[in-house]
Amino acid sequence: MFHYACCWAQKTQSCWAQKTKVAGLKRLKLQGSRSTSGKMLIKQRPLWVTLQQVRYNSSKQLSLVKFNNKEISLRINGKPLIFNNVFLRDSCTSPESVDSATSQKLFTTAECSKNLTIEGEPIVSSFEKEPALQVQWSNNNGKTTIRSTYSWSFLNKNATQQARRSGKFFDKDRKLWDKTELTNNLSKLHHNYKDLMNDERTFFNVLHNLNRYGLCFIDDIPRPEMTEMNEANVSAWPVSKIANKFGYIKKTFYGSLFNVRNLKSEAKNIAYTNTFLPLHMDLLYYESPPGLQMLHAIDNSTLGGENLFCDSFLAAEYVRNKDPIAYKALTQIPITYHYDNNNEYYYYKRPLIVEDPEIDGSCFPKIHAINYSPPFQGPFEVGVTKDEKLYELFDDFVRGFQLFENFINDSKNHYEVKLKEGSCVIFENRRTLHSRNGFSDSNGGDRWLMGTYVDGDSFRSKLRVAYRRFA
Ligand SMILES: [Fe+2]
Repeated sequence: MFHYACCWAQKTQSCWAQKTKVAGLKRLKLQGSRSTSGKMLIKQRPLWVTLQQVRYNSSKQLSLVKFNNKEISLRINGKPLIFNNVFLRDSCTSPESVDSATSQKLFTTAECSKNLTIEGEPIVSSFEKEPALQVQWSNNNGKTTIRSTYSWSFLNKNATQQARRSGKFFDKDRKLWDKTELTNNLSKLHHNYKDLMNDERTFFNVLHNLNRYGLCFIDDIPRPEMTEMNEANVSAWPVSKIANKFGYIKKTFYGSLFNVRNLKSEAKNIAYTNTFLPLHMDLLYYESPPGLQMLHAIDNSTLGGENLFCDSFLAAEYVRNKDPIAYKALTQIPITYHYDNNNEYYYYKRPLIVEDPEIDGSCFPKIHAINYSPPFQGPFEVGVTKDEKLYELFDDFVRGFQLFENFINDSKNHYEVKLKEGSCVIFENRRTLHSRNGFSDSNGGDRWLMGTYVDGDSFRSKLRVAYRRFA
């Protein structure tokens, strides 16, 4: 964050005027009057003042065009921009506004916006070697005065919606993939366990590529010496150590970690059988499904049992291009997901495609998440009887769902891999569909995968911090 704001509340008006003079700006006559205390009172009606443009250097230019008690008009590198005064006041990080120790805001938007006025004219001066806008705010009928400084970098970062997303979301770095695309980039997806654990640059590369493709692999994991996993020894398992690099483990009713072994009739989940597992996502019946899933192959010597992965965002984009009306319906009709088994009853409903309107769409589709998990799908609850508003839309939804499913079931859109023993696959649960071929131990082989989930927020926090450091 390159937002510098300082408070000069104790300083005098003459000091403010002096700063204006130092900045080389012409003090302009305001449409207002002075109170008995000598303070300038700004009228509530729009009051426009034009100041001369000041250039600081060729790369960072800032000038004040005009202002009133609703907005401030600027030119940033020649481009006109009008900022809402409440946004600017609300963004102030002066010591009176944000606690420097905790970074927590000390006022509410409602409080600061009440009778908000500008005292005197804002000035453009130099701060931390770049142009900065200085504004003296007054509200609560003049009882509260805050002086704020907004650096060129802060103003520029907030100039557009896309710029505001920068450093928080990395959709521009994402890439849609099919089998060919992924196979051609496999070397970027594989990383060494020791390097991951010991080298922060490697960790950033893993995060970067995981964000890019929604899939990566950690190889050469030493075989664990223990054989029995329980809640008391969770932290000792490699998959737990990997998970803790990426965030915090999201414990579910399967535990902090889970073993994937062939349990046949005892299985709580089809994943614990040897039958084919269709493409799906996990735990969509949770309000907040996990962001990442990890599967560490400890033993994988049975026949079959290959893992399949598919980019659901590419599938959604395919539907959008093929049938925009059906695509729209996929964003509107909610699908119910439930888990009602073993004295547990989870339930949630969400549409197949969740869009993110803030993504500009030029580099990557406007998609936030996909929700596809047929094994845990419950009966539809919307658009099912003719008297309902969404009844007609349901036909479009079904058509779109078929297109989506045909696409993801096409093998040219799959990446299929038999996980090597000592490798761990990590994938984004809200993007990358996963499935597994059936397997057989008739060859005397064994299959033991250990898995876990990582909370998506903590993963994105790691991603943002790593980007700040290395990108
Ligand atoms: Fe799964």
